[in-house]
Amino acid sequence: MVEPSIVLGIPLMDNDHAVLEAMLARAPETEDTDLADFLARIEAEIRAHFEREEALMQELFLPVFQCHVMQHEMLISKFQNAHRAIAQGDLASLRHFVSETLPVLLLRHMNTADRMTAGIITARPPCD
Ligand SMILES: [Fe+2]
Repeated sequence: MVEPSIVLGIPLMDNDHAVLEAMLARAPETEDTDLADFLARIEAEIRAHFEREEALMQELFLPVFQCHVMQHEMLISKFQNAHRAIAQGDLASLRHFVSETLPVLLLRHMNTADRMTAGIITARPPCD
């Protein structure tokens, strides 16, 4: 497994982030005719990742759960712009979303909400 650009020390997060980054790295070389499919695949992967991350936070009763879920919802809501671009046949906007906007949004999320959550998880005393 390739390491993600931001290593948080939580395997579930790091593994999923590496997968997402590898997918996003292929955005620039994706043909125009495959961009809508690419968007569908990356959106599905991000939604699945967010579900796994939220399940982990719930399992650990993390106090940041609600705030973090709101951050996930906010990021998912940005996909509306890409869906609109597809509906309008606006490939330039769609390409900009997958190769510029989405990587920045994801990296920012990993560096803020995910970093804070990972810090709380790793600082928790072991319970047995
Ligand atoms: Fe997250």
